[in-house]
Amino acid sequence: MIPDRAPVEKDVYHAAPEVVNGAHVPNFQKYKELYLQSIQNPEEFWGRIAKEYYWKTPQTGKFLDYNFDLSKGKIYTKWMEGATTNICYNLLDRNVHQKKLGDKIAFYWEGNDPEDCMQVTYKELLKQVCKFANVLRSQGVKKGDRVSVYMPMMIESVVVMLACTRIGAIHSVVFAGFSAESLCERILDSHCSLLVTADGFYRGDKPINLKQIADEALRKCRDRNFHVGRCIVVKHLGVTEATGATDETCTVKASSDTSQSPPAKRSCYNLQITWNADVDIWWHDLMKGASDKCEPEWCDFEDPLFILYTSGSTGKPKGVQHAVGGYLLYTATTFKYVFDYKPDDVYWCTADIGWITGHSYIVYGPLANGATSVMFEGIPTYPNVSRLWEIIDKYKVTTFYTAPTAIRLLMKYGEEPVKKFSRKSLKILGTVGEPINPEAWLWYYNVVGNSKCPIMDTFWQTETGGHMMTPLPAAIPLKPGSATFPFFGVTPAILNESGEELEGVAEGYLVFKTPWPSIMRTIYGNHQRFETTYFKRFPGYFVTGDGCKRDKDGYYWITGRIDDMLNVSGHLLSTAEVESALIEHAAVAEAATVSHPHPIKGECLYCFVTLRDGHEFTETLVTELKDQVREKIGPIATPDYVQNAPGLPKTRSGKIMRRILRKIARNEKDLGDTSTLADGTVIEELFKNRCRTA
Ligand code: WTA
Repeated sequence: MIPDRAPVEKDVYHAAPEVVNGAHVPNFQKYKELYLQSIQNPEEFWGRIAKEYYWKTPQTGKFLDYNFDLSKGKIYTKWMEGATTNICYNLLDRNVHQKKLGDKIAFYWEGNDPEDCMQVTYKELLKQVCKFANVLRSQGVKKGDRVSVYMPMMIESVVVMLACTRIGAIHSVVFAGFSAESLCERILDSHCSLLVTADGFYRGDKPINLKQIADEALRKCRDRNFHVGRCIVVKHLGVTEATGATDETCTVKASSDTSQSPPAKRSCYNLQITWNADVDIWWHDLMKGASDKCEPEWCDFEDPLFILYTSGSTGKPKGVQHAVGGYLLYTATTFKYVFDYKPDDVYWCTADIGWITGHSYIVYGPLANGATSVMFEGIPTYPNVSRLWEIIDKYKVTTFYTAPTAIRLLMKYGEEPVKKFSRKSLKILGTVGEPINPEAWLWYYNVVGNSKCPIMDTFWQTETGGHMMTPLPAAIPLKPGSATFPFFGVTPAILNESGEELEGVAEGYLVFKTPWPSIMRTIYGNHQRFETTYFKRFPGYFVTGDGCKRDKDGYYWITGRIDDMLNVSGHLLSTAEVESALIEHAAVAEAATVSHPHPIKGECLYCFVTLRDGHEFTETLVTELKDQVREKIGPIATPDYVQNAPGLPKTRSGKIMRRILRKIARNEKDLGDTSTLADGTVIEELFKNRCRTA
């Protein structure tokens, strides 16, 4: 339960008066009042919020209907029966026509290179989206069809996503750091009829030939008898398809008219792309003739909005599917309250649109509020480690949302690169993706925020669509490392092994008792897996897979994953996924992967491999295995350590005891209870073969 009063101790951080003045939720009492309303009367609470948006037809049936208990039948959540809308209409047309925000900047786009930038207003974005929606329709894409998006951080990516939603098509964005194999797997799983990609992009000074990876993915799909009919390619680096050579000049893209063939941004990079005229087609060729008017497709509140793949503990990624109406209401509301959004704010979220944070808090939440955002293509260390702070000053960013891994990375370089820039526009900071250690929290608070900006440590998941446990800037005093309290409409509980709810100070499994609007509706094409993954272990609850503590003041502290998942730089990976990539190597008989602490990434991968007879454990093999994982999954999954394991610790039933391997990786000799271990003799050998870790 929420306590009546916020704690007053010294180690608790209270909001400064300038944060409290004019805040949407000015104090703890107000938070508690609204929270109780949202729980006791969801219909009134969310119904009031729904009135701010446009509904083509109103709700006619039940406001909320759901089942979280498998023993009572199928798991489902349905809100606002009968209501129809279009999310793109709410994000763009409503802001341009009803709110008169047409000339307001939707995005400042900041490229990988500091001189490479542009901006786009709401009016312009609407035109581009309508044009591309017409292009999609002309390519035969209809309501319910899936479209794969494999693109860098560029405005066109937002255009594609919103164009899909305008015509009721379902986008499946695949992070541009994923490999051809991962892209292929996701295209196959969702049966996408069309792929949108770009020629390439720069990550720091490293060129990425995205089109080549996309080509390979499509080839892999064809090998498995699946043919993607169209591949639309955005010219981002400016290659010409005939020769693969870049144009001579190196001009900056200054116009936001994305229907024109853009000038080359780099002359230095000789990108070779192949062109398959049967499938490939340039974005700008299609956009040239397209009309900028497009009637939206009116969708049911519960119609699917998008699919986003997230790691699953079996190794096969899960296509998390969200619904139109609930996702709109929840991302818009969390954005407004968690960042205490005001119309003059300049908001910047450094996530990639390939992750849920990019979906909810670069695209949908901010645009639903008519906000101005910065969208950044580059990385925090290029061309130098002051880049983020420079951008904050350049655009006068008020609200900055990033990941603990980025903070830890920049902390390494000390305060000086931060202090070169004033950051005086900053009001509110945020983090997401993994637990933030108090040291990083304090650095973020004191150095980046000049000890005046509250930090919103937002706990949530791809599955939840939006923030679940989070502070509110003025209302909730902060404790470094705690995601504090539930957001409106969220009912957390902490369960023990036997599924009993624990009260007061406690530690256990974090679950949610009732639906919130943006809860995922299913796993694409596999509702049963959805039910088993999230509702089977503890009947009647949505199980997050995270551990959690509650302290004496009622604050929640997320302790990390309790399933076979790990979190590398805020990216969720499953051990099974990495192990299956390793096992595909001819030399590997068996593999086990555990997480290992890493000073910047938070966690990294430590892999144990048992070789087949006749194979030797060499440096070359280690490199090959690392490459194999990179190639199968993507660079984010590259193992830091690979150790030779002639035998693995297993239970008598043959289950690998990863708990023991985790200790071996950390060189912790106290292994705890080893009574279920089938063969204890493997342990000594494993300690002997340990990799030297940082
Ligand atoms: C972890 C990212 C602690 C958690 C939005 C969760 C966090 C997983 C936090 C979801 C946080 C996310 N504190 N842990 N503030 N935010 N996590 O689906 O383990 O990529 O289950 O969604 O990240 O990762 P996902």
